[in-house]
Amino acid sequence: MSYAENKPLQIAIDGPAGAGKSSVAKVLARRLGCIYLDTGAMYRAVTWLALQKQVAFDDMDGIKDLLQTIELEFKDVDGMQHLYCNGTDVTEAIRTPEISANVSAVSMIPQVREAMTAQQQKIAAGSDVLMDGRDIGTTVLPNARYKFFLTASLEERARRRALELEQKGIAVDMEQLIADIALRDKKDSEREVSPLKQAEDAVLIDTSSLTFDEVVENLFMRIKK
Ligand code: DC
Repeated sequence: MSYAENKPLQIAIDGPAGAGKSSVAKVLARRLGCIYLDTGAMYRAVTWLALQKQVAFDDMDGIKDLLQTIELEFKDVDGMQHLYCNGTDVTEAIRTPEISANVSAVSMIPQVREAMTAQQQKIAAGSDVLMDGRDIGTTVLPNARYKFFLTASLEERARRRALELEQKGIAVDMEQLIADIALRDKKDSEREVSPLKQAEDAVLIDTSSLTFDEVVENLFMRIKK
């Protein structure tokens, strides 16, 4: 529990794809001693399961069945956070370009958002938490004590994503990657339910010309103040 109030500490980090939210959030959560929740991973896992079970994204009965049976669990494995979907470790499987290309379509389904938001709020009710995503400051944790909106230029975000993919041995076509990220941002920003949007009370941080350590330090100092 946080020292300042008797309520659990809530920190929201939102922003477009590839702005560095998850890497920053992981380190920051460790330094602050709170739980880190990667909400994008949850939407990716729903997408993975729908593709595995061959449920079409417009098959609402099929999607509802999926949501009724899906069990998502974050577990620590050798100091790394892994995500299990119905008992299967999907940590790597949810990072493929195929999942990235389909996740916006799944995350615009209102029933999917409702189910994920409920799970996220339940976790935040009992523990100090730092969540990253698209709608944390606006919808999931509207009363979060700290809200940040991390962004960076499209080219810089694509460059960072390319590095991540290359480190995993996934071949990258830079032009295609830029187009894919731009399209995902557009879909995430234009959807009807809980679109990607900066909360009015969120601090905007453009990370284009900042190093990773500078971003972590920036957020850490604002929280400690
Ligand atoms: O953070 P990420 O790139 O892993 O997120 C994958 C997708 O999940 C993103 O394109 C939109 C969706 N998402 C969402 O709609 N709401 C969130 N809170 C987090 C992610």
